[in-house]
Amino acid sequence: MTQRKGIILAGGSGTRLWPITMGVSKQLLPVYDKPMIYYPLSALMLAGIREIAIITTPEDQVQFQRLMGDGSQWGLSFTWIIQPKPEGLAQAYVLAEDFLAGSPSLMVLGDNIFFGHGLPQMLARADAKPNGGTVFGYRVADPERYGVVDFDNQGNVRAIIEKPVVAPSHYAVTGLYCLDATAPQKAREISPSARGELEIVSLLEMYLAEGTLSVETMGRGYAWLDTGTHESLLDAGNFVRTLELRQGLLIGSPDEIAFKTGWITAAQLTARAKQFGKNAYGHSLAALYKTP
Ligand code: G1P
Repeated sequence: MTQRKGIILAGGSGTRLWPITMGVSKQLLPVYDKPMIYYPLSALMLAGIREIAIITTPEDQVQFQRLMGDGSQWGLSFTWIIQPKPEGLAQAYVLAEDFLAGSPSLMVLGDNIFFGHGLPQMLARADAKPNGGTVFGYRVADPERYGVVDFDNQGNVRAIIEKPVVAPSHYAVTGLYCLDATAPQKAREISPSARGELEIVSLLEMYLAEGTLSVETMGRGYAWLDTGTHESLLDAGNFVRTLELRQGLLIGSPDEIAFKTGWITAAQLTARAKQFGKNAYGHSLAALYKTP
């Protein structure tokens, strides 16, 4: 099997966060001490992925590039792709088809934050599956806001329903999609929904119909944080702040992951730490090569 490649979908107009997102992309907003996109990027890195396409709106691309460059500061390689209009999550696979060039993929939405012990192992299990796809279910109090998993009596997945009026379970489908190499070809067959989008659930339904979709549930020890409303965005920041201050460790730091994985050297990390030497993020990076 060819090496899995990553996709971060960071398009969209972020209307639910207006007026904040009228001037800046949602995925560039701060979540405590880092830009939001660092967190989903970290999830891809924890899956061992180094070749990543970042999909943005035409207007926002230059700001993302200023922030993240070509990825070499983290030992990564970025390919920049534009989504001209927000025409659905599944469109990402059509836009990224040339980049993927027949590789399987792990796509993450640019506003999804994952935290939990065992995340790399969970991603490795999904990666090891040669055909089909894996999505991750997470129990939430308000499933109606998401794609929701409908389980039968045996606990098998019957359907995935986007924003149901009455949710069939409390398990939301998180914005992390581990799909095989057929995803772009399948995405091209989807017809736009009533709201004019290539829906991700339509793509997942195709895998379900084939009998090749697995749903892994993330247990209660995981945090899947929402950033879709003013309250939840602040709550996510406070969650990160609370844990980072308590443990003296960083959450969602591409710098830390790149160093610990051996993708950058101590000298490269030192240079980054110096760049941010005036703040706690820089101090935490500097501490990485001093204390275990
Ligand atoms: C999208 C998907 C939904 C998924 C969610 C995860 O919804 O359509 O299935 O549960 O992301 O973040 P959106 O946030 O675009 O409304």
